[in-house]
Amino acid sequence: MSQYKELIDKKRLPKHIAIIMDGNGRWAKKMGNLRIFGHENGVTSVRETTEAAAELGINYLTLYAFSTENWNRPKEEVDALMNLLVKTIEAETHTLAKNNVKLLTIGDTSRMPKETASRLQQCIEQTANNTGLHLVLALSYSSRWEITEAIRNMVNDGQTGKLTAANIDENTINSYLATANIPDPELLIRTSGEYRISNFLLWQIAYTELYFTEVLWPDFRKDDLYQAIVNYQSRERRFGKTSEQVTQ
Ligand code: FPP
Repeated sequence: MSQYKELIDKKRLPKHIAIIMDGNGRWAKKMGNLRIFGHENGVTSVRETTEAAAELGINYLTLYAFSTENWNRPKEEVDALMNLLVKTIEAETHTLAKNNVKLLTIGDTSRMPKETASRLQQCIEQTANNTGLHLVLALSYSSRWEITEAIRNMVNDGQTGKLTAANIDENTINSYLATANIPDPELLIRTSGEYRISNFLLWQIAYTELYFTEVLWPDFRKDDLYQAIVNYQSRERRFGKTSEQVTQ
């Protein structure tokens, strides 16, 4: 029985929820197990969260699955994570396709092992025509990588005359980011009691509501997502205006 689900106002759902899934390593350590055990158990949380988001009718769910900085972890953890990611995605693609979920990735997939990247691409293609929940996996992603890439591409387009300085506005910058065509998240959740953004969607979260929970990612369940949404709905989003302006 869900404590929070019935408290959700279906008419004011966030269109896009982003999640920094954190705490897998600590969860495994608490169990006296290896870090990868935590990642493996985090898959259940990914499945539950995706299912809950799809059932509610959320349009976009972005999960920070592997950061640019994660490449610096011990090789055996990186290899195990890559393997787990691609295996899980392959195993779930059929279910995603059946449930009208469209799989997308943001990040520097050129750093991934070739075979992993191509297996991932095949899964993406299998869900390409779906129109329900967009499940965006941030893989080999960081905001500074994304912004650096955007600037590089903008300078290149400036040199070929496709872009002029006078024509650059916020929409132009949006269109050069990995998240072009994806709306900004209204809600960002971080698990495991860490209060950081860790190089995630820095441009896109300008007006995002931030929600931090002590729950470690492998323990995160549907009800934890509902609780975050209820909390989000209790907030007044002002976008720089006064309270009186937004409540009129
Ligand atoms: C952070 O916990 C978690 C990760 C870096 C990996 C997340 C990956 C999964 C949950 C695997 C499956 C994902 C998908 C999308 C299929 P941490 O290792 O930083 O934990 P710690 O802070 O306790 O050390």
